[in-house]
Amino acid sequence: MCFIQGVVDLKSEILRFLKNAEGEFVSGQELSESLGVSRTSIWKHINQLKEEGYEIESISRKGYKLKSAPDKLDREEIGPLLSTEFIGREIVYLDTVDSTNEEIKRRADRSREGLVVISEEQSVGKGRLGRNWTSRKGAGIYMSILLKPDIYPQDAPKITQVAAAAVVKGLKESGVDAKIKWPNDIILKEKKVAGILTEMTGELMRVEYITLGIGINVNNGIEDFPEEIANKASSLKLEEKKEFERKKIASAVLNNFEKLYSDFLERGSISVSIEICKANSILLGKEVRVISRKSEMLRKAVDINEDGELVVEDGDGNRESVFSGEVSI
Ligand code: BTN
Repeated sequence: MCFIQGVVDLKSEILRFLKNAEGEFVSGQELSESLGVSRTSIWKHINQLKEEGYEIESISRKGYKLKSAPDKLDREEIGPLLSTEFIGREIVYLDTVDSTNEEIKRRADRSREGLVVISEEQSVGKGRLGRNWTSRKGAGIYMSILLKPDIYPQDAPKITQVAAAAVVKGLKESGVDAKIKWPNDIILKEKKVAGILTEMTGELMRVEYITLGIGINVNNGIEDFPEEIANKASSLKLEEKKEFERKKIASAVLNNFEKLYSDFLERGSISVSIEICKANSILLGKEVRVISRKSEMLRKAVDINEDGELVVEDGDGNRESVFSGEVSI
């Protein structure tokens, strides 16, 4: 994979050589000749990599061997796992940020569709309906994607369904059987482990761009979930009783998202994503409470339609679709 933006730096190049060697030694001589820099410079960069968490064995006369890589979400680690054409071609990786959605908005005008912002932590992680999103350093995946689809504003919520399908598919590739609580909650063993925040910037009749934020609680511990949310929210680690590689999950979600999103743009329909959402829905067939600004009603969730809306039915069999608001079981 090549990246449109970002000078390919020496550190990344050394890493590429070490990774290609698949656990064998690469001599300092070979690195220095191939990259056209001194052996001292190679040594300095190797030390930097070690400081960043790469485990590199150095033996004189043999050279350097990569023994393990940290679970970082930068382009060195995620890039090789991506099979995408435009999502994540440009990755902005941050140690900390207020919110990756806000960072996308700051960059939207001068960036192409597909820009991904990933941060190790967020100081003001945002959830839906004005809530916070707990974003402790290194524990979860906090990423946002810049999208510039040629669609009408009323079709923007469809992107949430595409993303929900991509998250569930991506998690399955790591052996996690998560479900979707329409419209944007990803549930594992009855607790929320991931969420999607889709924000649209544009005019009444025109989408300028969409900021798609995805937060996944991966290796968080119980201390990350205060008492008031502990019965509702959790992490993959807490539910599956093991640690997960964040880079594998993040790249799988991006790979699946690009496929489903491209399918939407080509066909003008999210039917493939809807099938995934329906097959993994925890609401369908259940009595649900539909909470809107003005009212609350009890209905049976019966379908998710082609627009990504939840279809509910009252006791007399009358159906209506719900396109926003909150739904609880
Ligand atoms: C929700 O379920 O309420 C949506 C949560 C979305 C959280 C993600 S984390 C990355 C991106 N940046 C944010 O500030 N929020 C989204």
